[in-house]
Amino acid sequence: MMLNLVLPLLYLFSPMVLGSPIGDLFSVIDNSDSPSDSPPDSPTDSPPTSPTSSKLVVAHYMVGNTNRYRVDDWETHIQRADNTGFDAFALNIGNDAWQIGQLKRAFEAAGRHENFNLFISLDMNSIPCNTQDDAGFMDAISQFFDDPQYQLYDGKPLLSTFSGQDCTFGHASVVDGWKYALSRSRRMIHFVPSFFAQDGGFPHDLAAMDGGFNWNSAWPVGRSNISFHSDSNWINDLGGRTYMAGVSPWMFAHYSSATLNKNMIYYMDEWMLTKRWEQLIEHRQQVDIVQAITWNDFGESHYIGPLLSSESQPGSEEWTTGYDHTPWLDLFAFYINAFKTGTYTIFARPYISLGSTLSCDG
Ligand SMILES: *[C@@H]1O[C@H](CO)[C@@H](O)[C@H](O)[C@H]1NC(C)=O
Repeated sequence: MMLNLVLPLLYLFSPMVLGSPIGDLFSVIDNSDSPSDSPPDSPTDSPPTSPTSSKLVVAHYMVGNTNRYRVDDWETHIQRADNTGFDAFALNIGNDAWQIGQLKRAFEAAGRHENFNLFISLDMNSIPCNTQDDAGFMDAISQFFDDPQYQLYDGKPLLSTFSGQDCTFGHASVVDGWKYALSRSRRMIHFVPSFFAQDGGFPHDLAAMDGGFNWNSAWPVGRSNISFHSDSNWINDLGGRTYMAGVSPWMFAHYSSATLNKNMIYYMDEWMLTKRWEQLIEHRQQVDIVQAITWNDFGESHYIGPLLSSESQPGSEEWTTGYDHTPWLDLFAFYINAFKTGTYTIFARPYISLGSTLSCDG
C-alpha cells in the first residue's frame, strides 16, 4: 500500500524569500544582515498593535491517537507546542470512554505549563447525537471546564466541534438540539463549532453558535489557489461572532477499500502554507482564532508535531514512518508571532526551509 507520489521539485520558502523564485535565494542570503529587510509580500504597513494580543493560535489534536500516552507524553507535546507559540490544543474527542481518561492526563500535563491551555473539540462524526441521552457526553466533559488550564474565551469555557451540523439530540431542530446539549453543562459556554454546509458555504440558521470554525478554509477546495474568500463570507455571516480560521500544511490519505477506503490529496501547490499564513496575518483584525490542522492527525498526513513512539496511528505508518514534519514548527513560530503581534520579526540568522511538493501520478 504505497502512496504513488512524485516528489520532483524542491521548493524553498523562507521568511526572507516568501513568494520569490528560487533564484532570489542568494541575494537574500547576501542581504541577511540588514535586519530591516521585509519579506517581499508581507503587509509591511499593517497598523501597529499593542504588544499584548487577545488573538489565539491553537492546534487540533486527535485524542484518538493517544491511547498509549502517559502524562509525560502529553507534556512533551505541550512543551513543544508552547515553545512554538501555540496557546492551546483543541482536543478532538470521539466516542470512546477511554478518551476521557486521556483528557485527565492531558490536563495534568498542562498544569505544569501555565501559559498553555486545552479545550475540547467534539468529533461529531464519532459521537452520536440523535437522542437526548446522546448529550450525556456533556456530563463527562463538564468536569474539565473548571480546570485552570481549560481555555476560556470571553470568560467562558471554549468548546468546539468537528462537524455536528445535523445533530438534534432528540429535538425538533439543530438549534434546539445544540442548545439542549450545551445546557447540560449548567453553565455558559462559548461554542465555536466547525459546522459544514451542504454547499460548502456558511451553515445558516444556527443560532446556537457563539462563533464559527471554518474548517475547510485551511485548503483550497478544488483545484484553485488558497484564498480568503470563504473566510470573508463566514466573517460577514457571523456578524461579529468569534471567527476561527484554519491553516494546514497539506492533506492526503491513502487507505485501501479493505481499510478506511479513503484516498485523497488536496491541492497544495503555489506555496499554499505560507500564502495562507500571510492571508491570515493581512486580515488579522477580522480573525480571532487560528487553528492549525493538525498537530497529530497522521492518517490525513497534516501532523506538524513530533511522532513519538507512544503514538497510535490509524494504519498510516506506511506514509508517515521516517517523515518528520517538525521542521514546519519553525515556520509556524515565525507566522504565529506575526499573527499575534501584527509585525513580521525577521530572524537574526538566515533561515531556509526546504520542502517538496506532493502531486499525484496519474
Ligand atoms: C495559482 O496562481 C499562480 C500565479 O500566482 C498561477 O500561475 C496558477 O495557475 C494558479 N493555480 C491555479 C490552480 O489556479
